[in-house]
This record gives sequence, C-alpha cells and structure tokens, in this order.
Amino acid sequence: MEQQLKQLEQEALARIEAAVSLKELNDVRVAYLGKKGPITDLLKGMGKLSAEERPKMGALVNTVRENLTDVLTAKSAALEEAAIQEQLEKESIDVTLPGAKVQIGNRHPLTRVIEEIEDLFVSMGYEIAEGPEVEKDYYNFEALNLPKGHPARDMQDSFYISEEILLRTHTSPVQARTMEAKKGEPIRIICPGKVFRRDTDDATHSHQFMQIEGLVIGDNIRMSDLKGTLDALAKKMFGAEREIRLRPSFFPFTEPSVEVDVSCHKCGGAGCNVCKKTGWIEILGAGMVHPNVLEMAGYDSKKVSGFAFGIGAERIAMLKYGVDDIRHFYTNDVRFLSQFHRSEG
Ligand code: PHE
Repeated sequence: MEQQLKQLEQEALARIEAAVSLKELNDVRVAYLGKKGPITDLLKGMGKLSAEERPKMGALVNTVRENLTDVLTAKSAALEEAAIQEQLEKESIDVTLPGAKVQIGNRHPLTRVIEEIEDLFVSMGYEIAEGPEVEKDYYNFEALNLPKGHPARDMQDSFYISEEILLRTHTSPVQARTMEAKKGEPIRIICPGKVFRRDTDDATHSHQFMQIEGLVIGDNIRMSDLKGTLDALAKKMFGAEREIRLRPSFFPFTEPSVEVDVSCHKCGGAGCNVCKKTGWIEILGAGMVHPNVLEMAGYDSKKVSGFAFGIGAERIAMLKYGVDDIRHFYTNDVRFLSQFHRSEG
C-alpha cells in the first residue's frame, strides 16, 4: 500500500509539473485529491489495516496529501503569474513606433507680410489699431477732407449699404477715428485690415484686398520723419540695399502727398520685367496729414503736425514672393499656399 501511495504521488507530481493551464491543473487536483480520487479510496481502505499500521499509513497519506496540495498551490500561482505576464506583453505598446503624421499648415502669405510690418512698427513704438469694415461715409470720406460731391471720391468707387454707410474703401477712416478718440493726444499707430472697392477682378485688382494704414501725430512731425520711416520699411521688407524715392501725388487728406517707390529688389535698379525697366516699383501712398483733417478731429493744426501712409498688403506680398496674380491669395489653393511653407521663419 505504501508502494502504491508513492507511485500515486509520483504520477500526480509529474502531471502537475506538465500542466500548462489552470484548468488542466484543476483537473489534476480533482483526479488525485477529489472525493472519488485514489487517495480517498486509499483512506477508505484503511479499515482493513492492522491497528499498528493504521496510524502510520494515516500519517503517510496526510503527508502526501499536504505535499500535493502545496505543489498544486505553488504551480497555480506560477501559472497565474505567467498568464498576467502574457497578457501584459500582448497589450504592451511599442512606443518606438513613429506616430501618425499630422499635417501642419503655415501662415497665409498676406498674414506673414502684415505680421512682419507689424513687428517693425511695434519695435518703433507704434500701437496696432482697428476699425470697422462697414463704415460711415463720414469717416471714410468726409472726415478725410472729401465732402459729399468731391470729385476725388471717384478715385475709390464703393459698395454702399445706405446713403451714409458703405464698405470702407481704405483703412484711412481709422485715422479719423483714432484722432477723435485720442482727443488731441500724440498718436503713433498702424492699422491692418480689409478694404473694398467696386473694381472688376483681374490679375492686379480685387474688389476686396488688404491695406496697412500708418498715422503719426505730434509736435514737429516732419516730412523727413515720414521719409526715414518708409526707408526703414522698404529695407525691412525688400533688403538692406533698397532705396526709396518720393514722387508728388494727390490725396485729399494729405498735403503734400507722395507716391513712394522702392528700388527694384530683382535687378537692383538696372531695369527688368518686375520694375517694367524703370528700376523702381511703386509700393504705397503717403503724405503730411492735411490741416483740415487735423482740425475736423479736434487737433490744432498750428501746434501739431503728422504724417500718414497706406500700404497695399497684396502688392508687397506679390513683389516679395513673385506672385503674378492677386487672385491666388483668395482662392485657397493648397498648391499655392503650401509654397510658403519652407521659408516660414
Ligand atoms: N488711403 C489711400 C488709398 O487707399 C492711401 C493713403 C493713406 C494715402 C494715407 C496717404 C495717406 O489710396
């Protein structure tokens, strides 16, 4: 009987050892230690043993049973641990894999031009101002020395919403609005924004475009201040070697008025297709603020003076980036827009 028990134990230990799943292990437990298992049978057969043998055998069976139970528990823990390990490995994330690429856009070329100009003027102590795109006739024209019926109104054909309200044709109304708000105080602002004109769209005209207005008012502001400021602008936008030249012009809100040309950045002034063989490219209109404009806004034109300028943002961007059609800026063609990606600073 002892022999039989030893053999059973060996068998059971071998099957426990070989078990690869918790289910298999449980089958072994039931098979050997269960109520219908061989060990229980052995215990039942104990009655047939002699009085001396009985306790000896009883102890032996108990030892075997305890041993098997211990080995089963240990194996069960090992299998559970292995199962957890396997699951962890299955669910682990390989963080060394490259992530899904996100397409990064870039700033619109007009935004870039405006931000560059803003940076320059903010560095010179200017504030950035804003004004409404739907504007009163008063600010768009009258406060700028363009009373009703003035022939120079024809220079800027407008979209009227009513007799007195229109889509602003330039950013100059922000001049009048700022002067009114500052009530005689000195001013140094630039104002970028959308403007609208009743023009037929073609390669160089658009019914909607962008301007950047500049206005400086204070004691003893002179034409030479205007010239120095615009020279810094030309150099910043087109390169340190650029020169500017002023040509007499007319705007009702400035006197004297000038058109400002910059020496051609492509040929350096020798003459090429960009500057139409003249060596110069017109970039903006400017002048000294007209005394009537100062007076209407409550400034004493005998005490203070100022200059103003208006830059076309599209024109600067077209020249700077070699764009041949203004309409490219508005059609949202990614083939056009993505070309400004690499040079992004
Ligand atoms: N507002 C003018 C235009 O749109 C430009 C300008 C602005 C001229 C300021 C002089 C001073 O044509």
